[in-house]
Formats: sequence, C-alpha cells, structure tokens
Amino acid sequence: MYRTALARTYRPRRFAELVGQDHVASTLRVAVETGRAAHAYLFCGPRGIGKTTAARVLAMALNCSERQDGEPCGVCESCTSIWLGRTSLDVVEIDAASNRGVDDARDLRERAMYAPSDEKRYKVYIVDEAHMLTREAWNALLKILEEPPPRVVFVFATTEPQKIRQSAAPVLSRCQRFDFRRVSVSDLMGRLESVVEQEGSLGRFRRAASHCPTGGGRRPGRAFAPRPGTLVLRRHGVGRGRTPHAWSGGRGAVRRAPRHRPRG
Ligand SMILES: Nc1ncnc2c1ncn2[C@@H]1O[C@H](COP(=O)(O)OP(=O)(O)O)[C@@H](O)[C@H]1O
Ligand SMILES: [Mg+2]
Ligand SMILES: [Zn+2]
Repeated sequence: MYRTALARTYRPRRFAELVGQDHVASTLRVAVETGRAAHAYLFCGPRGIGKTTAARVLAMALNCSERQDGEPCGVCESCTSIWLGRTSLDVVEIDAASNRGVDDARDLRERAMYAPSDEKRYKVYIVDEAHMLTREAWNALLKILEEPPPRVVFVFATTEPQKIRQSAAPVLSRCQRFDFRRVSVSDLMGRLESVVEQEGSLGRFRRAASHCPTGGGRRPGRAFAPRPGTLVLRRHGVGRGRTPHAWSGGRGAVRRAPRHRPRG
C-alpha cells in the first residue's frame, strides 16, 4: 500500500530527522557519542510518533562504523539493514503482543546473554507493545535488567506505561524513560512540506488517498482516514491538479476532523 511506502521512505535515518522529539533525540545522540548508552530504555507515548523509529536509529548509531557525533551514517550495510527492520543476530525486534509469555522472555534472556557478533557491535532488543508482557515474563527479564551483560541494550516501547507500572513496577527503575510528545501542527506541516518538496509532485499523495481503505477513493481530498478529533488534510491540499504550493500556505491547510463525520 502506498501509505506504508511513504511512511517507510521518509522514516528518519538520523536522530536529527526525528520531528518534535528533540529532548529524546539529543539525549540519545550524546549518550552514543560519549559511550554512555543505558542498558535499558522505556519509550512511552501514543502510536505513530517515532518510538520504533528512535529505537532503530539508536541501534543504527550504536552499530555504525561511520558514525559521526553520535549520528549513524544511515547508508552503510549495517544501518540499512536495521533501518529496514531486518532481523539480524544483533538487532532484534520483538512484538510483545504475540510473544508475551514467560517462555518467550526466557528465550530472549538466553539469547541476550551471548556476546554480539563482533566486539565492536551492540545487541539491541526492541520490544514493542511492551505493556503486553505478562508479570512472569517481566520477572524472567528482571535479572538481566539488573545485571545486564556488556553491549546489550533493551528498548521497551509502549503506549501504556501505567500497565507496566501495575504489572512490573521494579522494571521501571531499571530503565531510562523517555516520554515522546505528540507532534505539533507546525512541526507536522514542516515535515509535510519537506516530503512534498522531495517528492516533487503530489502524485504519490493522490495514490495514497485513493488506496485509503476508508473513503479516500471517493474523497480525493483525504490522504488519511480521519478519526474524530484527528488531523486531516483539506481538500485543496491534495486535490486534483493542485500544486504543492497549497501546502506552503500553512494556515488552513490542516484542520481538525469534525466530531461527527459528515455523510457521503
Ligand atoms: N517524530 C517523527 N519524525 C519523523 N517521522 C516520524 C516521526 N514519528 C513517526 N514518523 C513516521 O511515521 C512512521 C511510523 O512511526 P513509528 O516510529 O513506527 O511510530 P511508533 O513506534 O511511535 O508507533 C515512521 O516510519 C516515520 O515515517
Ligand atoms: Mg512502534
Ligand atoms: Zn552506518
């Protein structure tokens, strides 16, 4: 689907490209630069604001041989493979929603005990939807979080940190926590403008809209299916034959979705 392709094409490759999360990006970059990355991080915040992306950039930065000032090069083989989310020996992404039990956690713990594939590399375990892990699974992980092997970094990402507090409070004190912020409208507009500029035309936006499962085809003005209260793009923003300038006006190009969806 084009929508995925666009999100993938423009997924940041460097900390500096993460929009609206400067507090996270600069702390992580400096930690990598000074060799002081934590053993475990907790990335909290709503969906789609860069938690997984930041975790991958961190894994790229830790493992990039061309790193500069804590930023990964983004293009070497190691960076590319991590950026694409390919599973390797050293960087593993785990969806806790489907691997939530104690056996999964033990398996993870055992794999993490092995040294990275090369003495310069780091093992990074990115555990998505971490609040889905059972209490027993957290218990199995607690020991390794208390006495982490060298060059192993865990990144737990969650939309619901309060559930982790309920089921595994001691884990929180073992992790460095970052609360990701909602991206502001002006940051979002800036990002859209830069994407439109790089695309050179609105072609892919129109196709994305027409492939949108809920109504994009019938309503070419919509790049995303809006839920009430979420941001949508105005009709003229992605309408037929319009130039990218419609975007640069800024004001009025984005509005809130109506509380009740209009018919049709
Ligand atoms: N802060 C951000 N800056 C730039 N792009 C972002 C940001 N957050 C999300 N994206 C875009 O949205 C896509 C999904 O983000 P992701 O990191 O998977 O979100 P999360 O893990 O928080 O749900 C990314 O591939 C990227 O293209
Ligand atoms: Mg994610
Ligand atoms: Zn690199």
